[in-house]
Amino acid sequence: MPYSVGLQTAASAFLSAGFATQFTFGVVIFLLIVFAISTFQTEEADAPVPLPSYSIFTILPFFRKRYDFLNWGFHATGQSVFQFQLLRNKVIVVSGESARQTFFTAKGLDLTEGFKILSGAIPMVRGVTSNLQPRRIAMIHKRLAAVQRNAPLNDLIPLILDDSRRIMETWGSAGKFDPFDNVYTLLFQTTLRSLSCTEISNDPQVVSRLKTLYDKLDNGTTPATVLVPWLPTPAMIQKLWATKEIYDIVTDAIHTREQSGVSRNDTLQMLLDCGDEKLVVVGFIMGLLIAGARATGTTASWMMTFLGCHPDWRARAAAEVQGLLAGNPLSSSNTESLSARLAMLPLEVWESETPVLDAIIKETTRVAQPHTAMRRNLGPPVYIDGKIIPTGAYVVYPFSDVHLDPELYPDPWAFNPGRAEVNKEVPFSYVGWGGGKTLCLGTRLAKVELKLIAAMFLLGFRHSVVNKAGLPTMPTPNWNDILLCRPPPEKTGYISYERSDIPL
Ligand code: HEM
Repeated sequence: MPYSVGLQTAASAFLSAGFATQFTFGVVIFLLIVFAISTFQTEEADAPVPLPSYSIFTILPFFRKRYDFLNWGFHATGQSVFQFQLLRNKVIVVSGESARQTFFTAKGLDLTEGFKILSGAIPMVRGVTSNLQPRRIAMIHKRLAAVQRNAPLNDLIPLILDDSRRIMETWGSAGKFDPFDNVYTLLFQTTLRSLSCTEISNDPQVVSRLKTLYDKLDNGTTPATVLVPWLPTPAMIQKLWATKEIYDIVTDAIHTREQSGVSRNDTLQMLLDCGDEKLVVVGFIMGLLIAGARATGTTASWMMTFLGCHPDWRARAAAEVQGLLAGNPLSSSNTESLSARLAMLPLEVWESETPVLDAIIKETTRVAQPHTAMRRNLGPPVYIDGKIIPTGAYVVYPFSDVHLDPELYPDPWAFNPGRAEVNKEVPFSYVGWGGGKTLCLGTRLAKVELKLIAAMFLLGFRHSVVNKAGLPTMPTPNWNDILLCRPPPEKTGYISYERSDIPL
């Protein structure tokens, strides 16, 4: 038949064309499918209002400028709940007090499924960090709880302090750095120390390689890698390659440990001693690192920035730590180094005798954690403010809705750890560590890490925040950067520091 010959000719021409032509053709077909899908949407009566215009270009800012995009959506629809399509996926954005309450407590709304499609930053190793059976996820969470029991967390304190000392010593006696480079790197080290093994965290070259690879995963998350993960874009290939390299580093370390027959006091040993299957061990280290290191790194970078901009709070926090050192007979000696003295303070002191540091961490996670919580409705349809969230739909709640609400937090962008507590009647008025059904499972570890590095830096250094020209500046968190909340380059706040006379 003539048309089949025509098709055959076209097919051979396509197959013999170069990759660029095939790729362009693939993208065109893909956009046509998107258009067709979006044109034939029908909506139920109680469906949330859709965005006024829809095209793939309208929703690109969901990935690139999320804060602006979501605010625009609320504004353009004039609603507190609206929806848009991410290809075949319906995404419903909710806001307001009652929406928040349902969002955090509804049984069918699932974090893992929501995160998988909408975030795309997690290394995708099928069966290891993606498509994990709930049983394996539950096991990883159980082990994470075990790492944060009193004894292992206490054991981590001197190690985290020693890592901090070693890295801070490389900063020299005075200088200037971008906290999103240096403080972030420090937290990557301490989180890796806490969640992996001695072999990896004692080797600066491997740590630095891993940091580069995790950065590649974060930065390689483009709209295409999330929406069409099967499309072999350069970003996707880079991401897969980075994931494979991380996987190899982690499995090599496990292999080395098993072969050595030497038992060490670290998290890997705990996991191996529990007899967990390899997938749980690798999934634990790979998956939790990306969740843990980025969040603690962001919070620490902002905490140092805020303290450099607010000498009053800096002084109060430093005095708090000095008071703890002086009040403990073991740590009060001035002959030991700062890290050694801080290591003598037991876990319960760090957890229950630091109200100033607690207030600083809480305020930092309120104003500089640009999280948009994501869920998928795996249960029956749920109603939020009278709008239906059908089974299978995605629903997102931007933390800005509550954390930057001027009714709850007057002058919301200002860093003020002394601000009045929000009325207890307001549900989920602070969700910095999650809320309801989904609470952060690394809170204990993260808070201890943040307090230890703050103590080291506040007593070991003097610091302030300056712009490129060296003049005092006060950067504002950039909620459009969904990873670090990092200000644009021209508004970078550098930490300008000099060593105090206390030996690290
Ligand atoms: C300053 C540091 C951190 C902050 C501010 C933070 C914050 C959060 C928040 C807000 C959530 C809830 C997300 C949502 O509802 O969508 C969450 C969940 C979670 N966090 Fe963290 N986190 C931090 C550090 C860590 C660390 C160090 C780990 C691991 C060692 C970790 C492990 C987790 C896990 C596993 C969940 C998911 C819980 C679940 O599936 O129910 N986090 N975190």
